Amino acid sequence: MPERFTVTTPIYYVNDVPHIGHAYNEVATDVLARWHRMRGDDTWMLTGTDEHGQKIMRTAAANGVSPQEWTDRLVETAWKPQLELLNIANDDFIRTTDERHKVGVRIFLERLKEAGYIYHGEFEGQYCVGCEEYKTANDLVPGTGEYEGQLVCAIHSRPIEIVREANYFFKLSEFGDRLLALYDERPDFVQPEHVRNEVRQFVKQGLNDLSISRNTFDWGIKVPWDETHVVYVWFDALLNYITANGYGVDEERFERRWPGVHIVGKDIARFHAVIWPAMQMAAGLPISEHVFGHGWLLVGGEKMSKSKATGIEPRQITEVFGVDAFRYYFSSAIAFGSDGSFSWEDLDARYHSELANGLGNLASRVIAMVHKYCDGVVPDVAADAELQALMADAVGRADSAIDTFAIHDAVDAAMAIVERLNGYITEQQPWVLAKDESQRERLGAVLATNVHGIGTAAILLAPVMPETAQKLWAAVGGEGEVSAQQIRRAHEWRGTGRVTTVPPLFPRIEQA
Ligand code: MSP
Repeated sequence: MPERFTVTTPIYYVNDVPHIGHAYNEVATDVLARWHRMRGDDTWMLTGTDEHGQKIMRTAAANGVSPQEWTDRLVETAWKPQLELLNIANDDFIRTTDERHKVGVRIFLERLKEAGYIYHGEFEGQYCVGCEEYKTANDLVPGTGEYEGQLVCAIHSRPIEIVREANYFFKLSEFGDRLLALYDERPDFVQPEHVRNEVRQFVKQGLNDLSISRNTFDWGIKVPWDETHVVYVWFDALLNYITANGYGVDEERFERRWPGVHIVGKDIARFHAVIWPAMQMAAGLPISEHVFGHGWLLVGGEKMSKSKATGIEPRQITEVFGVDAFRYYFSSAIAFGSDGSFSWEDLDARYHSELANGLGNLASRVIAMVHKYCDGVVPDVAADAELQALMADAVGRADSAIDTFAIHDAVDAAMAIVERLNGYITEQQPWVLAKDESQRERLGAVLATNVHGIGTAAILLAPVMPETAQKLWAAVGGEGEVSAQQIRRAHEWRGTGRVTTVPPLFPRIEQA
């Protein structure tokens, strides 16, 4: 039986077009999914859009269209094209305005109500529309500039709004002990460690019940037993993970795909590691496997965001460096789980040193030498033992890094092969060996080792740079699709055919 791997991105608010913070998240999740597919796991990657709530309703109004028109437009013109642009191989795309989602949300709510976890009550809270979240005093900071003298949301730097309503509540407060037990019994449920500690601390302080409906606006899913209320946007959104997988309507599919792994930004880890598992417990569902909270892309030391005008669109980068370099950079330059500053200089430097001079140069040199010295035929000799051991080690390291979500370490392990091969060529000097007939066999071994190494690196890099890896693979004479190879056995591949040609993979980029 193959292992099951269901992995999700958050569903994105469509109040605006995507920026590289969203792309970061999508690429990381896609790399994990592609890696698992290449292990042979029964893999399912889900992404989508979060379309209800006040934030989107207001944006639509400000643009003079209905919320549905607005979300349709943004999904079709911005969010789906972004997945294509970045070569994301998601298996499904859910919109919270999909009928299948609305049906599932209503079923879930009815079940929770029947189980006694929902009640009607009075409420007053401090709401941040940017976060679509009720804030506690700890989440607020003194405003500056035009908001001087007011308390503002620490994330959006904008004033909160007071919400005074009679709403439906979810008895979140009853789940504190069970959540703490979950974090203890499954220490890898929330990762990385600092996010786990923060979540644990938050729950330890005691949980309040959660207002899960609103009745002062109507852009949302109607509460099934009281149509004057719409479901709170986060309660609605979290359910996408199961409504996309057949919850309540297709038990077989649901069992096959659920539970899954959530890759989210640390700003929304609490929703995924506190509210969401409590909702699953209340409904008697299997709890998600892991919640991984990655860091933020920072620009000028702050979380990059459109609302603060620090947003960079992926296209600005891919147009210059290409999609694979984009994917590579964000998979390797920042330790997954930590914050990282984005800079054009760093991107440019890594592109040239690691990709153009490292990988691209290695491939073109080796292919050219096999043509020149061996008429394009890969010498049928085993790779040098030292390099074979290094490749086996790199494959093992990369594969286990994926299990701890250390995507950057997996890339590092693959690139260690490239780096070593470049050093190996300098040491072995095949162009000198080629001048000496008595070194024919040695020359063959050196070239075969390089071809073997490039093939292995191509397999390991396929989840990160699918198109480049395919080109490398074809160049060293690999058959079929590189993505069809068994990633855990990448080092066992051995070139025996002919090399072809390698197109320029990473052209030099002149400074503007
Ligand atoms: N709609 C909610 C998620 C609901 S999931 C049931 C949401 N959407 S969002 O569009 O605001 O954010 C989506 C993801 O993008 C989040 O994981 C968030 O952390 C991530 N990022 C947004 N800006 C980011 C950076 N500057 N850096 C890294 N990730 C960032 O929240």
